[in-house]
Amino acid sequence: MSTSSKENAAEIFEDIKKNLTRGVKDRKHAFHTPVFSNIDSEGGIDSRVVVLRKFDPSSMTLNFHTDFRSPKVPNLKKNSSSQFVFYDHKLKIQMRIKTTSLVNNQNDKAKEMWDKTRLFSRKCYLTLKDPSSITEFPEDGIPEHLTGKEPSHEESEKGYKNFTVVENKINEIDWLYLEISGHRRLKLTFKNNEPEYNWLIP
Ligand SMILES: Cc1cc2nc3c(=O)[nH]c(=O)nc-3n(C[C@H](O)[C@H](O)[C@H](O)COP(=O)(O)O)c2cc1C
Repeated sequence: MSTSSKENAAEIFEDIKKNLTRGVKDRKHAFHTPVFSNIDSEGGIDSRVVVLRKFDPSSMTLNFHTDFRSPKVPNLKKNSSSQFVFYDHKLKIQMRIKTTSLVNNQNDKAKEMWDKTRLFSRKCYLTLKDPSSITEFPEDGIPEHLTGKEPSHEESEKGYKNFTVVENKINEIDWLYLEISGHRRLKLTFKNNEPEYNWLIP
């Protein structure tokens, strides 16, 4: 994308969609691992890195996967307001994306993604203790016989009940392009998946 295209809101939107799609597919792309924030049980902010698993431009949704026992699951059910922050050093682009989150567990959406999940990734959902729970000694919580090993397909299925797809509907994208000759900032507000554009002072 040339610098002049950074003055055209519709082209910027196309570029955003292209980069989010790349972020899902390319593990080395900076957009593969955004920071996701939500509100915790005490009304504070909780942020962490997640892996971007899906971007659907037709529904304008971003998905990541997590364990149903993670504290963020009940917190998102209580307060579905959330936000992603993406930053790509090479592209010189930051995106702050405001979303509304929906938790999918043991439903059609979770099943569809679980069936595509590799054995190695399924292992994360087999911890004996709950994620984020206190433990007396340093450990990963995975059953000992699985150290350095993949679970069998049968054993991996025990993780399905914990596997959760968090689907996040995009409400607003705050796009910032840092360029020495002049920064640019565009706000995209979505209604029925169509953006309304406003240029902002960076
Ligand atoms: C590169 C990277 C990718 C991660 N991906 C995920 C993810 O997709 N889902 C997830 O729940 N946690 C992921 N984590 C772990 C979270 O950052 C966090 O430590 C974990 O979810 C526990 O905290 P929470 O339950 O308060 O979110 C990832 C961490 C790193 C460093």
